[in-house]
Amino acid sequence: MRAVSGPIPGFSTWTTMRRLMPTPFLKLPEFLREGAARYGTLVSFATWWRRFVLVNDPAFVRDVLVTHQHAFRKSVGTASLGLLLGQGLLTSEEPFHRKMRRIVQPAFHRERIASYVETMNEFAGAFVERIEPGAPFDLHAAATELTLRIASTTLFGIDAGNDARDVSEAMHELMEIFPYVAGPIGELRRKFGLAKNERFDRARDTLDRIVYGIIARRRKDPSDRGDVLSMLLAATDAETGEAMTDTQVRDEALTLFIAGHETTATALVWTFYLLARHADVDARLASAVRDGDAEFVRRVFQESMRLYPPAWIFAREAMRDVTLSDGRTIAGGTTVFVAPLVLHHTPALYPDPERFDPDRWLDDAERDPFSYVPFGGGARRCIGEAFAWAEGVAVVSKIAAAYRLELVSEREVEPAAMVTLRPSGPVMVRAVPR
Ligand code: HEM
Repeated sequence: MRAVSGPIPGFSTWTTMRRLMPTPFLKLPEFLREGAARYGTLVSFATWWRRFVLVNDPAFVRDVLVTHQHAFRKSVGTASLGLLLGQGLLTSEEPFHRKMRRIVQPAFHRERIASYVETMNEFAGAFVERIEPGAPFDLHAAATELTLRIASTTLFGIDAGNDARDVSEAMHELMEIFPYVAGPIGELRRKFGLAKNERFDRARDTLDRIVYGIIARRRKDPSDRGDVLSMLLAATDAETGEAMTDTQVRDEALTLFIAGHETTATALVWTFYLLARHADVDARLASAVRDGDAEFVRRVFQESMRLYPPAWIFAREAMRDVTLSDGRTIAGGTTVFVAPLVLHHTPALYPDPERFDPDRWLDDAERDPFSYVPFGGGARRCIGEAFAWAEGVAVVSKIAAAYRLELVSEREVEPAAMVTLRPSGPVMVRAVPR
């Protein structure tokens, strides 16, 4: 990379405040997109209390996530997730994170994923059975229910009865309130905004009651039931021989649960939304599924996560000055954003970037792996990536084999950049038998 000198160009503090306030999260995607178009692959901006840099080039993404990863920690935004997830993988810092990652990793080994695939197929099959051809339904709600059930079973071994219903209700509640208690002014709101805090605490307590209840029952009967919880309870650190405490098991189990189901549901919704708007790709998918060509299904899912990456942005905080591979410096204390939503739409990386074209992945040997980061990279790369791919392929294959999902309205569905990149409203579809 050619060396460059001088400060990182970008928006002034005044412009940043004017453009982003009072709803920074909602306005951020457009702001970052414009920043990248105007200032290039590194964009600086600042609020009165914090400096930010968007890195929007594969080389810089690698710099942040891999080469200089030890100079960064997770950002203040992630810290608020700790309210819910404690010291789980998503929120903890080194060296604790590395130790826990070592312990949790075996739950995601290949043979383990293969056994979860049976559950995924079973639930996806039951989902298809329940579909009433021609009757409109909200795909987002249905996909969330499906991934929630798959996660409940593969992680905790619960799939029916009161626990499953309580978990589902508490999850809906948390997803709704979380942006409120965790947003940029969440700390203030937590002090004063009583009603929503209480709802948040109640939902978290419900999940805790269920999770700790299951942990206690399992401690009494520690046989391996093939779910992630069994593995966490039985796991010991290969280096120290330590087992996990109940609180650690709770934090990790809840982290996997929360990180795992909403993201995958979102990916599924966007995939079927794109398929509904691209009849040619949909027809090819149907024959690929008939012929058992999982590769094409993967490419469809891959292209969908390029256009609509569920984890649309993630952040790090520089703990000291970091010199990037082009010679420019990110100052210590800066919050650095990697935004797959912006990166994946960069014309220099993806010609005709808005086009939904699963075949662009046919010859991707030349592509820099850091130009496609829906699952992050480096030591904090998504631990559930193989799980998500398996679930995506299983669910897309099962549904596409039986039905074409048709959009009830031709109106474009806008993404809403919340914690994940969700559709901004219901995505009403009806199923047409193949
Ligand atoms: C399409 C689905 C998914 C997407 C797009 C996704 C995306 C991501 C991304 C981008 C990160 C890194 C965040 C960062 O670097 O700050 C991450 C981390 C993580 N994900 Fe996923 N994820 C998905 C599914 C899952 C599933 C199925 C699970 C578990 C069953 C999971 C569990 C986690 C955990 C525990 C972390 C933290 C890893 C660590 O820091 O060691 N994710 N995910």
